[in-house]
Amino acid sequence: VTALGALRWRLMHGLDVLAYRGLLPHSLAERRITRFWEDYARPIHETWGHDEADFAVLADILRRHGVRSVLDLGCGSGRLFDLYRAEGVTEILGVDIAAEALALARQEHPDVPTLQCRVEALPADIGQWDLVVSNRVLQHVQANEIVAVVGRISAAGRCVYINELSDTDPITEEFFMIRHDYPPLFAAQGYVQLAEGMLGRQTWRLFGAAREEAAS
Ligand SMILES: C[S@@+](CC[C@H](N)C(=O)[O-])C[C@H]1O[C@@H](n2cnc3c(N)ncnc32)[C@H](O)[C@@H]1O
Repeated sequence: VTALGALRWRLMHGLDVLAYRGLLPHSLAERRITRFWEDYARPIHETWGHDEADFAVLADILRRHGVRSVLDLGCGSGRLFDLYRAEGVTEILGVDIAAEALALARQEHPDVPTLQCRVEALPADIGQWDLVVSNRVLQHVQANEIVAVVGRISAAGRCVYINELSDTDPITEEFFMIRHDYPPLFAAQGYVQLAEGMLGRQTWRLFGAAREEAAS
């Protein structure tokens, strides 16, 4: 690493921190945050792209709630797509901020449609889904945007599964990890917590309309 390379890295890292702290103009922040995830897409895939630690929990949810369609937000390289298919899900849309992650997803799952998009900018016509999955993604949404994001995804999903940074989580709070209090955020959308559990030291939660409670 040359001195110039190290300096450039420090500068870019500084910009990423400022972007996540909301201290850059909006369009520059958006560009930096997208770049940040583009750079991490391949390392994330190589480290966790074939992890199945949450498959049993998700399979149980898919079965109990008769899930046939899934909107996977922050799907990365499509780690969960095979699970959805194996459990009879016929309609999947994978959304991610990083084009690189979606390119990896399409290599292994050419039949699954994808959309490059920030969860903060989900199109209004994203459609209606039996289940919205957000696995380690809402924790990257800034505090001033999370209310709108939860509103949008609650409107799109009959149920919403999340596994995000919480009190139980061993990960220290890096600049790109943001803790949100999810139960009140979903309650404001008229959604109740249907189920909750642990995956290692991470807390997962399922939210949905009260009529879904019988299935949980
Ligand atoms: C820790 S990875 C989890 C990937 C996948 N959900 C899984 O369970 O394997 C976080 C993913 O969220 C994506 N991401 C981060 N911020 C995002 C945002 N604001 N909108 C959409 N995707 C985002 C990243 O590109 C990355 O693929």
